Amino acid sequence: MMQQNEVARTAVERPLNGKVAVVTGAGQGIGLGIAEALFAQGASVMLADIDGELVRAAAAGLAASKSDSDSDDRRQALAMVTDVASQAAVASLFDHVMSQLGRVDIVVNNAGMISKTPTIDLTEAQFQRVLDVNLKGVLFGCQEAARRMGGHGGSIINIASVAAHASAPETAAYSVSKSAVLALTRVMAVEWGARNIRVNSVSPTGVDTAMGAALRARDPEGFSRRARRVPLQRAAQVADIANAVLFFASDAAGFVTGQDLLVDGGLMLQNPGFVV
Ligand SMILES: NC(=O)c1ccc[n+]([C@@H]2O[C@H](COP(=O)([O-])OP(=O)(O)OC[C@H]3O[C@@H](n4cnc5c(N)ncnc54)[C@H](O)[C@@H]3O)[C@@H](O)[C@H]2O)c1
Repeated sequence: MMQQNEVARTAVERPLNGKVAVVTGAGQGIGLGIAEALFAQGASVMLADIDGELVRAAAAGLAASKSDSDSDDRRQALAMVTDVASQAAVASLFDHVMSQLGRVDIVVNNAGMISKTPTIDLTEAQFQRVLDVNLKGVLFGCQEAARRMGGHGGSIINIASVAAHASAPETAAYSVSKSAVLALTRVMAVEWGARNIRVNSVSPTGVDTAMGAALRARDPEGFSRRARRVPLQRAAQVADIANAVLFFASDAAGFVTGQDLLVDGGLMLQNPGFVV
């Protein structure tokens, strides 16, 4: 029975309690939404981003969202400045995760960039940078994670795009990088299954983030035309993408690996040339 002066404990049972997650590109947009969702489910989260100011503010915001009255709540939200295109920087990120949080269970390789350019004008430097961030960044994140997941296994989720599934003009570097992420995800799923490391990807359609806003500014009509064609009749929200990531991160997806989940409201089901 509770004594009169005993402090009331309000520990909340969250499904990811005790787990440690790493999210890249977590300073804003989809990555921040994913970090918030994993934290809300009980995981400690290391937020990594190339933009130090953004990622420090994001981690501080998460940490501040904890309730003071729950003394059993040991979740941490930490920030580290990382350029995922640098193998050494990604290795340091994961060393830091191990030293600060002791383990790694969930890794979301979300950091990404787009460069919309007519393919005929695409420079080698533009092509290289997009591949370095969107493809090599994912490879490095997966390798460093798998090296530290040891005997307990884990869940890796790579953020791809509808651009891996359909072609839009002026997106050569981006589409190539995201298509390759799907192939890379499948190969690692096959290689690491015996170590209970699951590797899956999520392919979002346009989301209204900084990246989405930049695309819309270039082609406002194209953006709204596409939104009207979505069978579920609305634009994607960051939470839609975060929920798909939560599924892959959870035990509910314990027998699912090497898969890509389109989160696009049904957009990719439609082929304008298809009539019955
Ligand atoms: N927004 C969309 O419409 C959309 C659609 C499909 C897929 N995606 C994918 O979702 C992911 C997140 O996109 P978003 O819309 O939130 O973008 P965003 O531009 O709003 O945020 C991306 C974050 O990644 C960080 N970042 C960029 N390069 C980095 C690097 N080299 N190392 C570490 N961090 C880096 C940025 O600083 C930024 O905080 C990307 O992989 C993107 O390709 C986005």
